[in-house]
Amino acid sequence: MSKGTFYITTPIYYPSSNLHIGHTYTTVAADAMARFKRLTGYDVMFLTGTDEHGQKLQRIAKENGMEPKEYIDKIVEGVKKLWETMEISYDFFIRTTDDYHKRRVQEIFKKLYEKGDIYKGTYEGWYCTPCEAFWTETQIVDGKCPDCGRAVELTKEEAYFFKLSKYQDQLLKLFEENPDFLEPESRRNEMLNNFIRPGLEDLCISRSSFDWGIPVPIDEKHVIYVWLDALSNYITALGYPEEKEGAYQKYWPADVHLVGKEIVRFHTIIWPAMLMALGEPLPKKVFGHGWILLEGGKMSKSKGNVVDPVILVERYGVDALKYFLLREYSFGQDGVFTNEVLFNRLNSDLANDLGNLVSRTITMIEKYNGGIIPAAKGETETDADLKKLATSVSGIVEKKMDRLDFSNALEEIWKLVRRTNKYIDETMPWMLAKEEANKERLDTVLYNLADSIRIISILIQPFMHSTTKKIWVQLGLDEGQGTTWEDTFVFGKLPSGLKVKRQAPLFPRIDVAEELKALEDMGAKKTDKKQQPQDKAESKEVAKTQEKPEITIDDFAKLDLKVGTVLECKKHPKADKLLILQVKIGEETRQIVSGIAEYYSPEALIGQKVVVVANLKAIKLRGEESKGMILAAEKDGTLTLVTANIDDGATVS
Ligand code: MSP
Repeated sequence: MSKGTFYITTPIYYPSSNLHIGHTYTTVAADAMARFKRLTGYDVMFLTGTDEHGQKLQRIAKENGMEPKEYIDKIVEGVKKLWETMEISYDFFIRTTDDYHKRRVQEIFKKLYEKGDIYKGTYEGWYCTPCEAFWTETQIVDGKCPDCGRAVELTKEEAYFFKLSKYQDQLLKLFEENPDFLEPESRRNEMLNNFIRPGLEDLCISRSSFDWGIPVPIDEKHVIYVWLDALSNYITALGYPEEKEGAYQKYWPADVHLVGKEIVRFHTIIWPAMLMALGEPLPKKVFGHGWILLEGGKMSKSKGNVVDPVILVERYGVDALKYFLLREYSFGQDGVFTNEVLFNRLNSDLANDLGNLVSRTITMIEKYNGGIIPAAKGETETDADLKKLATSVSGIVEKKMDRLDFSNALEEIWKLVRRTNKYIDETMPWMLAKEEANKERLDTVLYNLADSIRIISILIQPFMHSTTKKIWVQLGLDEGQGTTWEDTFVFGKLPSGLKVKRQAPLFPRIDVAEELKALEDMGAKKTDKKQQPQDKAESKEVAKTQEKPEITIDDFAKLDLKVGTVLECKKHPKADKLLILQVKIGEETRQIVSGIAEYYSPEALIGQKVVVVANLKAIKLRGEESKGMILAAEKDGTLTLVTANIDDGATVS
């Protein structure tokens, strides 16, 4: 049964092929919220779209030798593709050039005009073309736009005005009586003190100096100035004013409009005043989030690959990028983006904490119970402590999400991830596995680990739904087997007897130095576009030379392949990808360094019978001697050790 409706919106974007991760921030946040509400039982309407009118777009289209619509159509295709790449689960995409929107905006204009809230006058003011915003004398700063800092032009023309000043008292009341209407608190104070209390001026809502816009229905010489057009999208998308019975009745008023801080003024002063004039209910909340900045200031795609969402998704995956954006930055505040911040976050939270937890657990279930999730038998204090935390997280997450506190919602989930990793260290399953007498305890530990992972997989679903599915595959779990939100409140919902399936690591570790270099190289290549075809040819050549040449039996006979037992294994202190193993080959025990740390935890290797290239010349790997090499097979990005069911010292030939 549905818990009710939930209507969430992003701003509609100016069509641009230069969307950077800052732009994706609002949409990623809205997506997480929409998925969270759907998961927790709401009937969700998630709206996004594009804001396609205005002088600036008309000018750019002309510079490109195209009609505005023709030019914009192409870009909008790209915007939609970006949201597809980012796996944004919007329910409806509105374009302000859609016929229904244009018609409905004209209806809205007429209603306001007939009510006497729109009148014709002369506009004289400072206009910022890039921001498409008019500013008063008192608002401009040193002759520049207070938002973007660029030059403004003094403009005078006949125009239509909306009586914003008439709604001053009602707006003051709205802010004073509904402290939750605009969050965070700091933005509320800014609107009250800088705009509403000093007094509101009527708002120019038409232009006659360009014609790329919705015609004013009562005066074809004018087009509707962008904010009345753009803001109306939140209700025209639902059918207003033509179809007030359907989606509009169901979803309006919006539960939350998510907007960046620079457009809070439009959403919390002009928009509510328009709705008051129309006699329609106001949105329940507007949340003005902060900006993601680069170290040198504002973000722009020209500043490098790393702010290009498509490149980031290609290199680290959608889930990792979404997690990073929502975990790293506090939603209401500005934050600074650097490569190092990104890589550290992905390595520590995703590769180390979550990735390792899943791979360690699956490996241990494979190794100690033939890959079958055992049933739990009994409960110790440590178990009870883990279960208590595991079943309490969802309640806390609900509270954080209702406050749009994405970062702390994720932090709460990660408390459980880290607690579950600690549970492995406390219970030491590899020690339990040594004694048959401990089998029941081992079963309980393995089950508790797997069930905690089940709970975690559901908790992360709004943020990283593909990772959820990947974890279910590894647990051998089908949707419906303890996978609903309600199931996160209960421990023990994971059916025992499932067969686990180890897969590629969820999040490969990033070698920070290597990755920085790769991004730098890409940047260099990108600036030298002419070289691209040549690069492609070169990469084909490389692929060809990687096919290995034919060998004779004599070549093969040079290899001394031996079976060895892993006695000890630890992480390399200086290299994340390496493990240091002590391997017994018959009488001899030798040290081998192997690059399998991403695929195996040290404890999972102890006791394994592996195949060693025993006569490989010894080398030092990051300061540690390695005498020989362990064979492993690679498929679909996962490495699996080649193991042998025979005594160590045996020769493989
Ligand atoms: N078209 C208007 C919105 C009209 S809504 C009725 C607009 N479009 S925009 O494309 O410029 O911005 C869309 C969203 O991206 C805004 O919420 C804006 O704050 C956000 N961001 C753009 N750059 C950003 C960062 N660097 N960081 C975070 N968000 C940023 O405004």
